[in-house]
Amino acid sequence: MDIIHTTSYEALSQEAATYIAKQVRSNPSIVLGLATGSTPTGMYKHLLKDHIINKTSYGSVTTFNLDEYIGLHKTDPNSYYAFMEKHLFQHINIQKDNIFIPDGLAVQLDNECKSYEEKLNTHGPIDIQVLGLGENGHIGFNEPGTAFNSRTHVVELTASTRNANARFFKDTADVPSHALTMGIASIMGAKEIILLVAGKNKAKAFEQLLYGEISENFPASVLKKHPCVKIIADSTVLGKSSIIA
Ligand code: GLP
Repeated sequence: MDIIHTTSYEALSQEAATYIAKQVRSNPSIVLGLATGSTPTGMYKHLLKDHIINKTSYGSVTTFNLDEYIGLHKTDPNSYYAFMEKHLFQHINIQKDNIFIPDGLAVQLDNECKSYEEKLNTHGPIDIQVLGLGENGHIGFNEPGTAFNSRTHVVELTASTRNANARFFKDTADVPSHALTMGIASIMGAKEIILLVAGKNKAKAFEQLLYGEISENFPASVLKKHPCVKIIADSTVLGKSSIIA
């Protein structure tokens, strides 16, 4: 795993966006795996700027999102569909048909999982997968204990994750109890993975990722087995300001 230690969240966001925009320009039909949450919002902001200034085109880009809450309508501001529209899709020239996000309102959730994997097979592999890190080491919504060979599946969210995400909702009780997520094996199928880690609340998980063992009890540890992982961390995570690169 390569670690790029940036001096601030802003620098982390710029670093990630510059890298991704460059890859999009060199491979216009790139397949991107995208994440939601607070961590990647700065990166999306810089991607929008780049789209305007450098005219990076998303006309042939395909995207797959990692996860979606079950039970929230697309128009619900807390759905990951709405998040992606707000932070990225409505501002760039991506084609609607090239955007894939699990459908959290599907009646047959198992079929939705199967169909999402089929879409990944048809349009993939993902060239670059962006990931955030959960405080308990989750990636996507793969909570501790998720099998490393898991594919897209329904997950019951842990209390820790619901509490961590409650800040986006009126009340913790409003955080959905279940979600759809790409599995660990689906994520590991990406050719390259970029993990973004920012904020003091991630310091413990980050330390565990770096120094802990590879275990299904800490989902992100699987990344140590991937041949091409870049971690971009900000200074609050390591408490230093040098660039390790
Ligand atoms: C959420 C999302 C993940 C995200 C992670 C960290 O629950 N499902 O995809 O990476 O938790 O979120 P944040 O960046 O807001 O800390």
